[in-house]
Amino acid sequence: MSNPTLILGIESSCDETAAAIVADGRTILSNVVASQFDLHRPFGGVVPEVAARAHCERVTALVDEALVAAGVAFDSPHNPLPTLHCVSAVSVVHRPGLVGALLVGMSAAKALALAWDVPLIGIDHILGHVYAPALAGFARYPHVSLIVSGGHTCLYRVTSPTEIETLGQTCDDAAGEAFDKVATMLGLGFPGGPALAKAAESVPDSERQIFRDVVNASRTHAGEAENPLDFSFSGLKTAVYYHLRGTTRGRGALRAISDDERRAVAASFEEAACAIMAGKALAACRQEKIAALAVSGGVACNARLRAMLTERAARERNAIEVFFPPPSLCTDNAAMSAGLAYHYYTSGKFSGLDLEVDATPKRAR
Ligand code: KG4
Ligand code: ZN
Repeated sequence: MSNPTLILGIESSCDETAAAIVADGRTILSNVVASQFDLHRPFGGVVPEVAARAHCERVTALVDEALVAAGVAFDSPHNPLPTLHCVSAVSVVHRPGLVGALLVGMSAAKALALAWDVPLIGIDHILGHVYAPALAGFARYPHVSLIVSGGHTCLYRVTSPTEIETLGQTCDDAAGEAFDKVATMLGLGFPGGPALAKAAESVPDSERQIFRDVVNASRTHAGEAENPLDFSFSGLKTAVYYHLRGTTRGRGALRAISDDERRAVAASFEEAACAIMAGKALAACRQEKIAALAVSGGVACNARLRAMLTERAARERNAIEVFFPPPSLCTDNAAMSAGLAYHYYTSGKFSGLDLEVDATPKRAR
């Protein structure tokens, strides 16, 4: 049997430094992530300069750790491990993200590709998220992909790992960004999504209804008139803001609220945000006549979203299979891009050493 194709992936687009080794686009041999939550927490959000510096300090150690954990190494007098296999290519996320942060992973990847004399493969971070379900064993094509993360909210038609068409995207905030901002308004801390989900955890259905009407309103948001599969979270976020101020007039501070009200607002926001995501994703399946949906990105960790989508998908006229990867593959990691890179590798789609970083998302087709 021939040796597997091993790809080293490097990820540094935002506040996670990550490295992974994936074999043949399928088997994760190692997947290590160093998050920077503690560094950014005092500022209540990701500080680009702090993120870039932390990536610089960590990226070499993370790559070493990924190689050693996978049992993959290069001959070196300092290396106590026997060389089992060699890396066939280095993949790196080169867009979208924070420019300074992306540059760190990019520089590391180029240096390794040059030193090891293997191809470099640039990967779009969002398309990496789209590939995450495949790494977790989901192999239905075509499928609809819902990506809900801190920076992006998109719906795609996925025909194969590399044939991806945009069906809809957010007109304003990303889903995770809305969770984070509402968590800040509620004083729940950083990162906001998991904190808000925790606050909402045991709130009963009857107390999750404060923003129910906003879900209907968001369907007719101005930006969505053109494409019903586009998202809008700004109306919901503003509704929470007005609710917490107790008025829509003038400027002023937020009201002091009890812990019970804080939990009910968190749960009502979560309920409305999940209803928007679930509604659009199932509408995309109906539009495309596809009965398979995969969900990924950090917000796909949300337990209420998982439960709501699974339940609503089963009630569709043509029951829709919904797949969520495990949380470690939903949030940022390097395995997803190393896995996708295998498919570029097999068709010879390599990047030059002049590959540049790009802060802005690029629409898939
Ligand atoms: O995919 P990801 O790790 O990074 C980006 O590409 O942005 O997503 C991070 C986002 C953050 O906004 C975080 O608050 C959100 O995912 N998130 C959650 C949960 N876990 C992470 N949002 C809601 N519920 C969660 N359980
Ligand atoms: Zn991400």
